[in-house]
Amino acid sequence: MSKELYAGQRKNKYRIVIGKDAIAKKNLIPLLKCHNKTLIISDDGVPFKILKQVTAVCKPSTKLFKIILQHGEKAKSVQSFKNILNFLAVNNFDRTDLIVAVGGGVVGDISGYVASSYLRGIKFIQIPTTLLAQVDSSVGGKTAINISAGKNLVGAFYNPKGVIIDTSVLQTLPNKEFKSGLAEVIKYALIENKYLFSLLKVQVKKIISMESNVIEEIIYRSIQTKAKIVTKDEKENGIRAILNFGHTFGHAIEAHGKYKKILHGEAIAKGMKIASKISYLENLITEKDHKKIIDLLKLYEFDLSLDQYKYQELKPYIFRDKKIKAGKLNLVLLREVSKAIVTSSFDPRNLQKGLGT
Ligand SMILES: NC(=O)c1ccc[n+]([C@@H]2O[C@H](COP(=O)([O-])OP(=O)(O)OC[C@H]3O[C@@H](n4cnc5c(N)ncnc54)[C@H](O)[C@@H]3O)[C@@H](O)[C@H]2O)c1
Ligand SMILES: [Zn+2]
Repeated sequence: MSKELYAGQRKNKYRIVIGKDAIAKKNLIPLLKCHNKTLIISDDGVPFKILKQVTAVCKPSTKLFKIILQHGEKAKSVQSFKNILNFLAVNNFDRTDLIVAVGGGVVGDISGYVASSYLRGIKFIQIPTTLLAQVDSSVGGKTAINISAGKNLVGAFYNPKGVIIDTSVLQTLPNKEFKSGLAEVIKYALIENKYLFSLLKVQVKKIISMESNVIEEIIYRSIQTKAKIVTKDEKENGIRAILNFGHTFGHAIEAHGKYKKILHGEAIAKGMKIASKISYLENLITEKDHKKIIDLLKLYEFDLSLDQYKYQELKPYIFRDKKIKAGKLNLVLLREVSKAIVTSSFDPRNLQKGLGT
């Protein structure tokens, strides 16, 4: 049985369907029916079978166009943004037409940003095909592209018209990518979702072997938390910051490795280890809770070693964090398991101690 959730406020509210066969006419047709033309954007790493299935479901409700980008972060470049805009203009897309993103977070981010900018905004739908995109980037309306000065520096808050999460597409996802997405699932359990925490503890085997019902359930629970938070705080003025748990340090680790050495989720797992340790050092969580958190990360065999990172080397990246306000670093810490807080009052020496150095 498929599940559904809603995110967004008032006229920007959208439906998120989650299920084993969610890429189906019954979910897509209602979203497509008033659009004359539709541009499907994907990348060449997304299995052709998925694209074929989306195409078949969309036909004949709308006139279809396709752009297949080269996979990887480069697809989020200014050049690729320009190319897609030109494609839309040359093919006379107007404001009543539609974009459908079929892919991971890269495809979702560039498609969403194009949709937010072309003719000051046309509708778009997300069909996320990686676990990370399903539990994170497809929900919440953040869209972005990269510029040479940094990743995701240009973008917009722009909600999709709908999100279709078909869990069967994950079958072809490389294990490393699946695990990267799992780090975000663990994040939701740690910041807000007690039920998800116990599910992750009890169902390890079924999750690792991608048992369909359990995967559907952990995606549903993850989005439940994400949708609740982003609906309360659409433009990141407050509570939304807790979604960044583990990310101040995780981003520093990724940037330190020039985004080549380590996948996002692998870095976030290390970042969550550091943030949990600081929460413990700040006497916010007990030793027992601290251990519970580390045990969960270990259960999913995340490499939590930090030996290769010297605090002095990570520090410049840590202080480049988006959560810095008036020169003060704000940290997302835990007050207990499944309860995150944002605070700027912490002992700065614990930043270094959190890394274990
Ligand atoms: N907008 C947001 O809120 C948000 C949140 C988190 C991350 N992001 C962004 O998301 C991006 C990362 O997303 P990602 O981890 O999905 O990476 P990705 O989009 O690069 O996808 C990873 C790889 O998997 C391939 N792939 C996609 N679906 C597949 C499938 N079903 N089977 C096999 N291979 C498949 C892709 O072609 C790609 O090569 C980053 O650019 C990041 O900045 C955005
Ligand atoms: Zn993340």
